[in-house]
Order: sequence, then structure tokens, then C-alpha cells
Amino acid sequence: MKIETTPGAMTAEEIIALSKKHTLFEWSAQGTVDPLPVARAKGIYFWTPDGKRFIDFNSQLMCVNIGHGDERVVRAIQDQAARLPYVSPFMATEPRARLGRRLAELCPGDIDVFFFTNGGAEANENAVKLARWVTGRHKVLARYRSYHGATGAAITLTGDPRRWAAEPGIPGVVHVLDPYHGIERGWDSAAQSLATLEEVIQLEGPNTIAAFILEPVTGTNGVLVPPDGYLEGVRELCTKYGILMICDEVMSGFGRTGEWFAVDHWSVVPDILTMAKGLTSAYVQLGAVGMRRGIADQFKDRVFYGGLTYNSHPLACAAALATIQVYEDDRLIDNARTLGNVMTGLLGELERRHPSVGAVRSIGLFGIVELVRDRRTLEPLAPFNGTSAEMTALGQFFRQEGLYTIVRWNYFFTNPPLCITEAQLREGFAIIDRALEITDRAVPGT
Ligand SMILES: Cc1ncc(COP(=O)(O)O)c(C=O)c1O
Repeated sequence: MKIETTPGAMTAEEIIALSKKHTLFEWSAQGTVDPLPVARAKGIYFWTPDGKRFIDFNSQLMCVNIGHGDERVVRAIQDQAARLPYVSPFMATEPRARLGRRLAELCPGDIDVFFFTNGGAEANENAVKLARWVTGRHKVLARYRSYHGATGAAITLTGDPRRWAAEPGIPGVVHVLDPYHGIERGWDSAAQSLATLEEVIQLEGPNTIAAFILEPVTGTNGVLVPPDGYLEGVRELCTKYGILMICDEVMSGFGRTGEWFAVDHWSVVPDILTMAKGLTSAYVQLGAVGMRRGIADQFKDRVFYGGLTYNSHPLACAAALATIQVYEDDRLIDNARTLGNVMTGLLGELERRHPSVGAVRSIGLFGIVELVRDRRTLEPLAPFNGTSAEMTALGQFFRQEGLYTIVRWNYFFTNPPLCITEAQLREGFAIIDRALEITDRAVPGT
């Protein structure tokens, strides 16, 4: 086949064929991947090279929070590229200086020192290193229903089945149960869950535990909003035993939940807060480890043994500054809260109308629908870590109808960009409403 060399001139078929031939797609057997070819994107929509429009109901990987193609951010990246695209991280630049100060203003409590990385996994890698150095302890507690990234330590911290292929992983990671036990068993109260956590701490030996890492609102593993009192209780237990609390806000940060950070809903200040995704809305890759002043102060006389060629990358820092300005100028955090309330109503309507809907959860514009075969038994429509004909058909319908979201196990997400309007939100939910007729057919008596 003769391949077009002018940018923007390849056909959809060429893009797919060459991408599959010469590049690996993540988390997939390569023979089964069926990627969507994408040519351009704007606001909450993106288009294939053939002009088919998709409504982005997952902000890609829950990261394009401000929406696609925002010219203010594009211009900031262009300007920075023209002025200074890169210097060594041993040097100081204006975007780095400004971003550190800006994040210190936005982050809870006295989290006001940052180490910049290329993404979320590297942020968590460095968070674990920090916690081990600062406490002189080696164990790290993490939860089963979690994802913390695909690199060495981050994938070991990860509780979901993506960890299995990377085992045994790094030493010292201990997984604990979450308050949520899946749709059939449901939730523990905050008190029960904290009692289990404290038991694990006792059994492991408090003096051996450097940190507990958790997503304050769990993302890919189910938009799990903790019962009130849980995060406050974790904070207390961590303080009681000298364990550092690391909150992974890679997905939940930057307005997704209707606050700058999910911990803000409960006024909890972790010792370390990791972020990525919404920090730049993914226009350029960037992650960060935020730490309380007391932790950073420990590295005044001690060496901070961490480094990355692209640490504090000027393009990424400029993109982050412009993105944060967009959140503020367009009041996107407020929009996430206001339209989050509308979305809660729309999710509730789905639950009333469709017998295959077993549970809905949301906070801000972070939402999920869990599907079941039977409302009485709450048997999930696909097993843990598995799929089913009905869930596959649902995904195909979304694709055919031009709605993009992640369909996983027995659930799918409703996580649009925070710039969405009420009319656009209803447009997406109208497609979902029709799609659920497919899954309703699996429910006995319908
Ligand atoms: C909560 C959480 N932590 C960490 C990561 C890893 O981030 P990255 O893919 O940027 O390495 C993700 C990615 O989905 C995430 O959702």
C-alpha cells in the first residue's frame, strides 16, 4: 500500500493499519484491538477522519477535563515552545516557578512543595520513595479496588487485576480491603472499614508501615465515593501510627468531583498528594507529587534522590498554568458541581427506567452505572475481571451511536469534560437510555 506522507492526509484505514503494524496498544492482545481512528477534537466532541462525530463521555481517560482543543492552552504551549521548549531540570524556569506557586495555592493545607513527573505512575513511584525515606519504614498499604499506574512500584500498589501479570513486584506492599465489596455485597460502614484497617496495621506492625496510599474517590475500579467519616478516620489512624497518608488524586483531582481535589469534600489534608491527568487536561503529559512543608523540609540537608530528564518540563508547566487559568476563568469546578447535580438526577432516572441498572454512583461529573442480571440477587451483568455478550453489545451500540465511554466488567462511566452544558449532558444520556434496552433484555421477565 502506498502511504500518504503529508500530515492529515491518511485515511482512517491507513492510520489503523500502520498503528497496529508498528505500535503496541496497551492492556490488550494485539490481535483483538479495534482502535477508533481520531482526526480532531473540540469541546466535548471528537471526529474520525471520515467525519463521524463522537460525544466524549469519558474525557478520554478521565483526563481532558477542560474539554478538547482549548485555544488558550494551545497558544500557551505554542508560545512556550517558541521561547524555551526545554532545559535541564537542574535549571529554574518561569513556568516551573509559577506552577509551583499556583499549586501551593490550590492544594489543601500546607501541601506546598511539588516534584514534577511525566504522569501519574511516576508521581506515585516518587511518593513511595519519599514516604520510605521520611519514615525510615518500608511497608506500604494500598487497597484492592485501586489503580495507581503501570510502572514497577505503581503496579504493585495497584489492587485490581492489572497487577497480576507484574507480580511479584516490589517488596513491602500490603493490600487491604475497601469499604466497598462489589455490587452483590455492597458497603461496609466507615466504622467497620476503619476497624479492619486498624487490625491490618496492628497485624503488620505499625512501626514497619511507611504509608497508606488510596484514591480518595476511587476511579476505574468503580467511582467509589467513601462513606462520610472514612477519609477522616484514615487520616486519624495514619497520624496515630506515624504512617504517611498518600492520596492519589491523579483521576479525582482538578474538578472532576466538583472540588479542586476530592479530599476537599471531607476537609482532609493528606501528607502527600499525587496528581496528573487534569493538571494539564492531558494537552501535554505532566504529573506531580505534592508534599506538606514538613516533609519537604527534610530534604534541606538530605539529598532528594529522585530525577527525570523531563522533570519540570517547561512545555508541560506552561500547559498546566494555562489549564488552571481555564478552570478558573470558565468556572469549571462550579460547573462540575452544578451539572453534577443534574447528572445525579439523570442517573437516577436511568435506575428507575431500566431493570438492568443495579446501582448508580456519582460525585461531580464522575459517574458510573453498574449493570445486573437480576435486581433481587444483584448478580453482575459480567463477572469480576470479565465480560459478557450483553456488555460487549452495549459497547458496540455506544460506538455505533457516537458515544465514547469506557465499558468495563459490569459497568460503564459517565465522565464528560467539565465544560459540558446541560443540553449536551442530556444528549449523551439519551443515547445511554436507548442503549440500556439491550441490557434490560438480559433481565428475567422483561
Ligand atoms: C488513580 C490513578 N493513579 C495513577 C494513574 C496512572 O497515571 P499515568 O497513566 O499517568 O501513569 C492513573 C491512571 O489512570 C489513575 O487513574
